[in-house]
Amino acid sequence: HKTEPTIAIIFGGTGDLAKRKLVPAFYNLFLDGWLHEQFAIIGMGRSDTNDDKYRKHFEDALGEFSRRQPEADKWAAFAPSITFLQSNINDPEAYELLKAKIESLEAEWGVRANRLFYLSVAPRFIEPVTVGLHKSGLAADVERDRIVVEKPFGHDFKSAKQLNCLLTATFKESQIYRIDHYLGKETVQNIMAFRFGNALWEPLWNRNYIDYVQITVAEEVGVEDRGGYYEGSGALRDMIQNHLLQLLCMVAMESPVTFEAEEIRNRKVDVLHAIRRFSREDVGKAAVRGQYGPGWIKGKKVPGYKEEGGVDQKSNTETFAAIKFYLDNWRWQGVPFYLRTGKRMQEKGSSITIQFRQVPHLTFPDAMAENMFPNRLVINIQPQMDIRLRFMAKKQGMGMRLKPAEMVFDFNDETTPAQTPEAYETLLLDAMQGDATLFMRSDQVEVAWDVITPILETWESRPSLEFPNYAAGTWGPENAEALIARDGHTWTVTL
Ligand code: BG6
Repeated sequence: HKTEPTIAIIFGGTGDLAKRKLVPAFYNLFLDGWLHEQFAIIGMGRSDTNDDKYRKHFEDALGEFSRRQPEADKWAAFAPSITFLQSNINDPEAYELLKAKIESLEAEWGVRANRLFYLSVAPRFIEPVTVGLHKSGLAADVERDRIVVEKPFGHDFKSAKQLNCLLTATFKESQIYRIDHYLGKETVQNIMAFRFGNALWEPLWNRNYIDYVQITVAEEVGVEDRGGYYEGSGALRDMIQNHLLQLLCMVAMESPVTFEAEEIRNRKVDVLHAIRRFSREDVGKAAVRGQYGPGWIKGKKVPGYKEEGGVDQKSNTETFAAIKFYLDNWRWQGVPFYLRTGKRMQEKGSSITIQFRQVPHLTFPDAMAENMFPNRLVINIQPQMDIRLRFMAKKQGMGMRLKPAEMVFDFNDETTPAQTPEAYETLLLDAMQGDATLFMRSDQVEVAWDVITPILETWESRPSLEFPNYAAGTWGPENAEALIARDGHTWTVTL
């Protein structure tokens, strides 16, 4: 159903996220008829711009960042809902100006609108915004007013806890939407449909039938112009703490009783609690870090991480991480979960591999054990969007020889990428409708930090002497291959 009358206020309104993701997402929601006629976006920022220039800035960006191109008449209908408020978010006056603006819109509409405050700002600005919203009473309606908080959500366990304390001292937990955009991806949501909409998998979905699980999120891009941010982050904080652990939760969670926010989030947090914590010694054995040096990607020479803008020549920041986790619970005891992510890898590709066990006995006299491939399920998240099941079949012809075959469900058979809602569309719509299922609760964020803390601390206290240890355009450092090879396996990206 359509949203209620809504005013979306973007702190960081002239930032990259607003341009690449948020405004294109609102525009596509508008095109698809999800937005109430009474809808407005107020961008907050320090720049000296005006409404016209501000709208034009988004119109120009749509061509590049929206899944659908702007159509002149549609854009003309949407653009007037966007306005800009020049403001310094550290200044209490900014909130008074904002209040006047919001109230005049509401007076015009004749309703108290829902207010969505989107905090797309560096972590240090979360406090002044929270204080400003609190003092001005702008977000005081616990039913109608919501706060969306972008990552990074803290820098470590302690700062995440402080941030949660700060937010929950002012807002109710039900008003706070901590965003992890991976949860809005169609293929990621489909993991739930696939697991809990079918009776077939559940009996097999455990240590008795599953040998191991792999989760890869490989990027071709480097740090681009985000060197300044990334230097203080690294792959562990930037990707593992949030996106990859969330994917792990989706694969490993128990079946929820209902599709309701608290229920889903409880089941996911159970998984995070079950992850075996590392000692310092374990970190050396089960976690591998990497940093890219110069290399070639698709025939193009690219610089190493240390040559990127905003990056320290002696940087110890990892741009690649591979980690082997175990879950201490009944379902997963003894099943390794291998996670890896990196920038400047050979190919862009995110996928989850569920590797089943080998058959217990070789029935066919002509089948050689090494030609028998155990069943494998690959869930491709992006850019390929499909699910593939590998199974053994008879080779055509005389005799009883076997070969691997596959069954494929391809998202693109039904829709084209331009028809597929982007993660931010799904999540913004959910936030506007008050559905927090795909957002992170405070405890989830904290436990996820707790899981990676020993790795973070060990890596920070022992700078790597090997960096850079992989060339751009490869699959990461050799140690990452060794990590999985020790258990007799190899990394897979596609089937
Ligand atoms: C962001 C990270 O959260 O996710 C980026 O900060 C990363 O470093 C991005 O590139 C990847 O998202 P996607 O949707 O392109 O896979």
